[in-house]
This record gives sequence, structure tokens and C-alpha cells, in this order.
Amino acid sequence: MNRRTSKFLIPFLMLSALLMTLSSCRLDIMTDIMDGYDSNPFLDRKMLGSTRQGDDEITFLLFSDAHLNRKDEDSWAEDNTPYLEDFLLDNIDDYDFVISLGDIEDAGDINAPELHEFLKFFEDNGITYLSALGNHELQSFHERSEWNALYESYGLFGTVGCYTYGDLSIYVTDSTKRIYGRQQLSWLEEAFACDSSRYKIMITHVNTYSGGTFDSSLLFFGTADIAERNEIYRMMTKYGVSVLFNGHFHTGNIRSNHSTYVSEFNAAALHSRELIKSWYTPGYFYTCTIDSSASQLIMDTWKIERGKITEEKSESFALRDGMN
Ligand SMILES: [Fe+2]
Repeated sequence: MNRRTSKFLIPFLMLSALLMTLSSCRLDIMTDIMDGYDSNPFLDRKMLGSTRQGDDEITFLLFSDAHLNRKDEDSWAEDNTPYLEDFLLDNIDDYDFVISLGDIEDAGDINAPELHEFLKFFEDNGITYLSALGNHELQSFHERSEWNALYESYGLFGTVGCYTYGDLSIYVTDSTKRIYGRQQLSWLEEAFACDSSRYKIMITHVNTYSGGTFDSSLLFFGTADIAERNEIYRMMTKYGVSVLFNGHFHTGNIRSNHSTYVSEFNAAALHSRELIKSWYTPGYFYTCTIDSSASQLIMDTWKIERGKITEEKSESFALRDGMN
């Protein structure tokens, strides 16, 4: 190695090592994830609604990272919520509820008129809506409790807790700081252990797994504590929580199978702008059907490209059946 090469290579290697360390370090010192809760919020199960009679399927629509009001000079930023609303209105009888995986408003402006209009759409059309909390929701110094109150004011659900619909339990967790925290993990385990629902899934904002097949979520995305990720997968395996849905890493569409009955799916953003490189990307949303006769969750991926919605692919996740 000549002197010129080492001049650049050594700082590069040192910087890479630092980034790798930062991306995987333990952050046990942050234990305030569950501030505001005096007791286990996952034990207080809330019903999302009653299932349709004679229907053994549960269907829901899922999206992440809507980033309302995200703008940029090159006009790459495209708000796809109007197309999502049209799709929902055209198929309003097909879906039992809608799930948002967080980052709903770009600056976390809880008073933004566009945000209130979007939430009012669900209220006006009687569409059940359940939301996780994204890191952008906390950007304007608003607390989780304020977002909980906002959703409640429109008759909607969120942002932490266990929500049930028929045979399904949905655990909504807070990962906005890239960790779950020991309190949240122990409360989750307590709730999983006494949950007799046939099927269980989990939703959160930040991807737990990252860097699979060298995808670029390795740095700065994903849970910051690898021990926590392992703990999540251990509990999912033990208590039959079959799928973990999350967003945050806008490019998304990344599926990680931990075992036959434990998978993580990282959803791509609804919004049409690539996060880091800031160029145009299609927006995505997903429709899911839980088929209890086959104990499967079928997920269809929908792409929105310049306003045109097309179905991209369909895949299935095996569900651990709590009845057996
Ligand atoms: Fe986001």
C-alpha cells in the first residue's frame, strides 16, 4: 500500500468501523420509552370492531410513511394519499380496517390541516383506522399522548396497545427511538403470555431487522440494539406472533423470514420520494387477508406510480394457529 492510498483508506476504514459500531450499539440507558404509562398498556385490549357475520376472513389495508406535506424543489415529492382514498372508496366494503405504520405528517405538525383532513376522511367514511407512532410524529416536540388524543378525537385508534378483531390480536408498539426498552419488552411478554387469540401480529414503525443481503438499511435504520431484536424474535416464536410489520426505511418491500412462523415485513413508503437520494420512487400500500381456513395471511402489494395503481405481487405468510 503506498502512502497516498493509506492516506484515504485508513480514515475510511476508521469511519466505517465507527458507523458499524454506532449502528449496533446497545442503548440501554434510554429506558423512558414507556413514559406516561403506569401499568401495562398491552393488557387493556381494545376491540377494533365486530367481525362480519359468517365471514371467516379478516381483511385490512396497510400503509407506511405517508409524510403529508413533504415537499422539495425538484417536485419529486408526491403525496399519494388522494389515490389511497380513491382506492378505499372504490373498495370500501372489502376492508375491515386500515393500518398506518407511522410518519404520517412530515414535520410532525399535529395541527396541519392536511393531516386533519386525512383523518377526517376515515371518520366521515366510517373506516376503522389504527396507527403506530412514527419518529416524525415526535419532531415538533409533541408527545405520544397528544397523538393518542388526536386519533381518539376522530374516533380512530392508536398508538400503543393491543387491539383485537375477531380471532386476531394486533400489538402496536413504540420503536420511534430505535429501541423498545426493557419495560416495553417485559410488558409485551406479560401480555403475550395471557393472550388466547388464535392469531397474533405486531406493528411498529422502525424495522427490527436490517441489512439483510446487504440492503442499505444496515446503517441508521433498524433497531439499535441487536439483543432487543433477538428478544422480539424469541417472544414471537414462543407466543405465536407470526408477522411483524414496520416501515421507516422508505425503500422497503423487504421480507425477512426468521422461521416458518415468524416473519418481518418492512413496508415501502406510501409517499413518492426516496429518503436519502431524494429522487422519485413509486408509492406502495398493501392489502392483507387472514384466511383462517388455511391459517395464512395473504398480502398483495400495490404500487402507485404517477397516480396509477397496479397490483405488483401477492405472497403469503404462514400463521401460527393459537388453537393448536
Ligand atoms: Fe418516514
